Amino acid sequence: MAAERVKDVGILAMDIYFPPNCVLQEELETHDGVSKGKYTIGLGQDSMAFCTEVEDVISMSLTVVKTLLKNYNIDPKCIGRLEVGSETVIDKSKSIKTWLMQIFEECGNTDIEGVDSSNACYGGTAALFNCVNWAESNSWDGRYGLVVCTDSAVYAEGPARPTGGAAAIAMLIGPNAPISLESKFRGSHMAHVYDFYKPDLASEYPVVDGKLSQTCYLMALDSCYKTFCKRYEKIEGKPFSIVDADSFVFHSPYNKLVQKSFARLYYNDFLRNCSIVDKDSREKLEPYLGLSSEESYQSRDLEVCQQVAKPLYDTKVQPTTLIPKQLGNMYTASLYAAFASVVHNKHDALVGQRIVMFSYGSGMTSTMFSFKINEGQHPFSLTNIASILDISNKLESRHVVPPKKFVEALKLMEHRYGAKDFVTSQDTRLLVPGTYYLTHVDSMYRRFYAVKGDTAATPVTNGH
Ligand SMILES: CC(C)(COP(=O)(O)OP(=O)(O)OC[C@H]1O[C@@H](n2cnc3c(N)ncnc32)[C@H](O)[C@@H]1OP(=O)(O)O)[C@@H](O)C(=O)NCCC(=O)NCCS
Repeated sequence: MAAERVKDVGILAMDIYFPPNCVLQEELETHDGVSKGKYTIGLGQDSMAFCTEVEDVISMSLTVVKTLLKNYNIDPKCIGRLEVGSETVIDKSKSIKTWLMQIFEECGNTDIEGVDSSNACYGGTAALFNCVNWAESNSWDGRYGLVVCTDSAVYAEGPARPTGGAAAIAMLIGPNAPISLESKFRGSHMAHVYDFYKPDLASEYPVVDGKLSQTCYLMALDSCYKTFCKRYEKIEGKPFSIVDADSFVFHSPYNKLVQKSFARLYYNDFLRNCSIVDKDSREKLEPYLGLSSEESYQSRDLEVCQQVAKPLYDTKVQPTTLIPKQLGNMYTASLYAAFASVVHNKHDALVGQRIVMFSYGSGMTSTMFSFKINEGQHPFSLTNIASILDISNKLESRHVVPPKKFVEALKLMEHRYGAKDFVTSQDTRLLVPGTYYLTHVDSMYRRFYAVKGDTAATPVTNGH
């Protein structure tokens, strides 16, 4: 089987886990003393997920792998490759993948290739490409690949703090997938910049030049789009414009940047004279034809592009924004959570469609690539994936925490980061049964986790 040419390699199944705690951006605005609307309208965010001291990127990834295997009834022996994308450093040597091996060792499966990939928010995409390339290669042995994106995004007090978030996503990879990669259509842009980085190994917080990271993101987007369009044109013999994809999914540090990004693609199509740009819009954009690209990144006036692109944004992008607006930036998981949002919103109506993805990791690494949506066979149908993702239920059952408690949780985590010899509160009241949690770290920095049992959770009151 491995020697045969396989078809439609891509994502067969997905699951998502995020912490049960969130803080409302509106309440955070008041708490931080910023102007009303700065986080909700200015950044476009609704709420933000965060881990408390009993959860971290390891526990979240253990939880999501376990639930994916259970929900789709996959035998752990059928996994042949496991790749993790994460930028949350818990150990400078031991990969998160090795933690996940516990699940497979129990069933006697230790023959699993793959380790962690790390470069800011791009690691999940690197992990996905590794798994897909493996399944398309001569070394594929017929088993499934598994990609896990897991991150907890936390920032020091200041303007970047409301752009945190947390989640883990698992994706099962194999041939005949309902979500297959159109591997020939791709464009990458990689370069050396200091826009967001984590040089202080004693702190979980990044050093971030927010404005520069915005410009770098948009420059990378332009460059990837140009290469993507060129490849498409070469292969298909006709130009590509935003009309040729049904959805655009962007890495989402915060929603405003996603709005700007789609407008940027529209602007690119305008500059390339694509017919998608109607006469009216063309007239509105013509005054900006002479802008240098550097000027165009900074120009306030060019916001007119967001207005003219709005109707297309509403159909092609809006359905992808649900989870990122609710959870915040999940770093490596952010792009795939946006993709999960469109699966949740549209499921089997997506069959036959093309979805363009833009992955960005500061530093910087970025790729634009595309998925083709196919009819999947049960349990790998879009409708079943949407039902297992169970997004509405998971979002609605979250516990809203006042900003003061969120800040306290972050303070405790600052203290615990890189520490040894401590026991957590083991307060699992908010966790659903089957969730992994951190119990203690011993004098040799070894971390210990337990799984919340199936006994009914102690009821907790939602609110403050
Ligand atoms: C994004 C970031 C730079 C914003 O911080 P800031 O400089 O304090 O915010 P700004 O003053 O620019 O305000 C943000 C936006 O809200 C708007 N805004 C501010 N107050 C507002 C209000 N009361 N109502 C509505 N909008 C408001 C601003 O006009 C701005 O919009 P614009 O981007 O269209 O210009 C900061 O949150 C950050 O650094 N985040 C991390 C970024 C990151 O993670 N990068 C790496 C991954 S790509």
